[in-house]
Amino acid sequence: MTETIKRPLVAIAFHSGYGHTAVLAEGVKRGAEKAGAEVAHIPVDAITDEDWQRLDAADAIIFGSPTYMGGASSAFHAFAEATSGRYLTSVWADKIAAGFTNSASKSGDKLYTLNFMAALAAQHHMIWVGLGLPPGWNALTASEDDLNRLGFWIGAGASTPQDGGTDTVNASDIATAEHLGARVARQADIQIAGRNSLAHR
Ligand SMILES: Cc1cc2nc3c(=O)[nH]c(=O)nc-3n(C[C@H](O)[C@H](O)[C@H](O)COP(=O)(O)O)c2cc1C
Repeated sequence: MTETIKRPLVAIAFHSGYGHTAVLAEGVKRGAEKAGAEVAHIPVDAITDEDWQRLDAADAIIFGSPTYMGGASSAFHAFAEATSGRYLTSVWADKIAAGFTNSASKSGDKLYTLNFMAALAAQHHMIWVGLGLPPGWNALTASEDDLNRLGFWIGAGASTPQDGGTDTVNASDIATAEHLGARVARQADIQIAGRNSLAHR
């Protein structure tokens, strides 16, 4: 008899002050859905009780924030601090985690934001999944249109002109965000299948 294995639930917990990071969150969502996951799309500055339940039920949580003043936004930090009750009870232990950020400058100190997300995940005993792409745009033969054009490993990093609208979010950054969503959905799938397999040993 073939067993039906549940689709992974991937939650995207993100903040976007002016809409640019939200465009990337949509990319992450598309990638995860294309890879077969159910997605809970959660803007953390308007989080509801139902959203918290979805986060607790999720197999994976992908964190997203703009980089403001060299770190995650205050709204994302407020969300992170509000998870402290869950930290105390290890409710999120062994969920898969990943992160993405966006800022105006090509570097813009985005790595601090991704590192903060990885530390947040570690404090919850989550399992951090990196971007899983080689760095793009770093050779004479390379192009700005490469996936992972800004060369991050720990998560997805995007750069959007500070004076541009949401329609100026870079296409390869959006594709990189889609890749992250698909990768996390796949890893969640593998984790669920592995747990099922161990249960039958
Ligand atoms: C308060 C504030 C601080 C910022 N700090 C940085 C920064 O440290 N590095 C950077 O490259 N861009 C910085 N930016 C630019 C934003 O990261 C950029 O405009 C981003 O696209 C905003 O994303 P959002 O529309 O999702 O809020 C800052 C913007 C604001 C409003």
